[in-house]
Amino acid sequence: MTAPIQIAPPRGKLGVLLVGLGAVSTTTIAGVCAIRRGLALPIGSLTQMGTIRLGKRTEARTPRIKDFVPLAELNDIVFGGWDIFEEDCYAAARTAGVLEPSQLEQVRGELEAIRPMPAVFDQRYVKRLDGPNVKKGKTKRDLAEQVVADIRAFKEKHGCDRLVMVWCGSTEVYMKQTAAHATVASFENALEHNDEAIPSSMVYAYAAISEGIPFANAAPNLTADVPAMLELAARTAAPLAGNDMKTGQTLIKTIIAPGLKARLLGVKGWYSTNILGNRDGEVLDDPESFKTKEESKKSALDYIFQPQLYPELYKDLCHVVRINYYPPRGDNKEGWDNIDLVGWLGYPMQLKINFLCRDSILAAPIVLDSALFLDLAKRAGMSGIQEWLSFYYKAPMHAPEVYPEHDLFIQLMKLKNTLRFMQGEQLITHLGREYYD
Ligand SMILES: NC(=O)c1ccc[n+]([C@@H]2O[C@H](COP(=O)([O-])OP(=O)(O)OC[C@H]3O[C@@H](n4cnc5c(N)ncnc54)[C@H](O)[C@@H]3O)[C@@H](O)[C@H]2O)c1
Repeated sequence: MTAPIQIAPPRGKLGVLLVGLGAVSTTTIAGVCAIRRGLALPIGSLTQMGTIRLGKRTEARTPRIKDFVPLAELNDIVFGGWDIFEEDCYAAARTAGVLEPSQLEQVRGELEAIRPMPAVFDQRYVKRLDGPNVKKGKTKRDLAEQVVADIRAFKEKHGCDRLVMVWCGSTEVYMKQTAAHATVASFENALEHNDEAIPSSMVYAYAAISEGIPFANAAPNLTADVPAMLELAARTAAPLAGNDMKTGQTLIKTIIAPGLKARLLGVKGWYSTNILGNRDGEVLDDPESFKTKEESKKSALDYIFQPQLYPELYKDLCHVVRINYYPPRGDNKEGWDNIDLVGWLGYPMQLKINFLCRDSILAAPIVLDSALFLDLAKRAGMSGIQEWLSFYYKAPMHAPEVYPEHDLFIQLMKLKNTLRFMQGEQLITHLGREYYD
């Protein structure tokens, strides 16, 4: 056992700033409003419903996570955000069409009070969108300064003690790291010179991190996962998490694949296709935005199966991912997976999965948990990449010298062991020899 880490108590209000008030954000906000009034349950949220075993199994100590670590209370959260559309959070939630109108009606007043601040937006990075609520600025540095001013004004107006920012905006076009992202100095120079290498999402991330505010990226864009942002986060002690929330098909993939691998069943092919009809689906219909998503979705299987260690089982795996925009389904995504398996002596088998899920219903608890855990990390003095939050992400941020961990069960163990470590409790190895000695 080690001594517990000093964690500042979660006094006062926590401002949760969401970039993009679309389906995910409005479902998160409306959900939290409904939950704190006792109208619904926070299903899917580890911070609200999860438990954690402490000590030996015979000790029967299994508190709720929220009673074990000092998390901000839902009642202490104040939401705010930015969007390129002017509609308030209630109208945006109606547009998103995820939650029932009757449920939204119950929290209508709270939602109407949340009006999006003007966005940093450039259509170059999200081709299928355009909207009127956009900031003007000569340089990207001006825009970053405007976001910093928004953040400070929000904190002041709502009397927040602390803030967290989560990018829940649309998926931007595929971008690769360039020299502009190498250091804080090169990044700031690029901001000043309106370098194309800086998409809108990076302007927000830069503004938040330079204020020492924890930042999570719920989308797959290249946003905070570049050396310049890590350098800045180290300077300002800002914790970071991302990228791209692990919700529908990838969640199922990272549940099934570790099981197949555990039993050394080979996989020759994994074909995944989706139909999705929300605005996210429309944005992803643009090949450049889809490429960002595709890269993020495809990496999980490689890391879970480790073909370099098991070439006979996984070397030639054909992994195909498709997303088709199909408006009639709205936010209710349907995913199909066909998995071509190989068993004993090379005999083929097939597994088919048909998941009729609700994208934002799966995403909202991740946004909430990311915000609460990042705030905890900040109060615990943990800055930079929070790998223990990879549990929530499709393309988890990780240190350059290690590969990302994608196996959901290892990720959960890492998350819970981090909480035990923070509180000076014994880490759980599942060895358990003492029960039989
Ligand atoms: N729902 C899921 O299961 C899931 C899972 C993983 C990742 N994501 C990602 O989360 C993001 C949000 O998803 P969604 O379903 O809410 O999409 P959405 O289209 O409903 O909402 C995105 C919102 O962001 C706004 N926006 C775009 N660029 C902006 C900018 N520069 N500044 C401010 N606002 C901006 C858009 O106007 C829109 O209202 C997407 O990138 C999506 O790929 C979603």
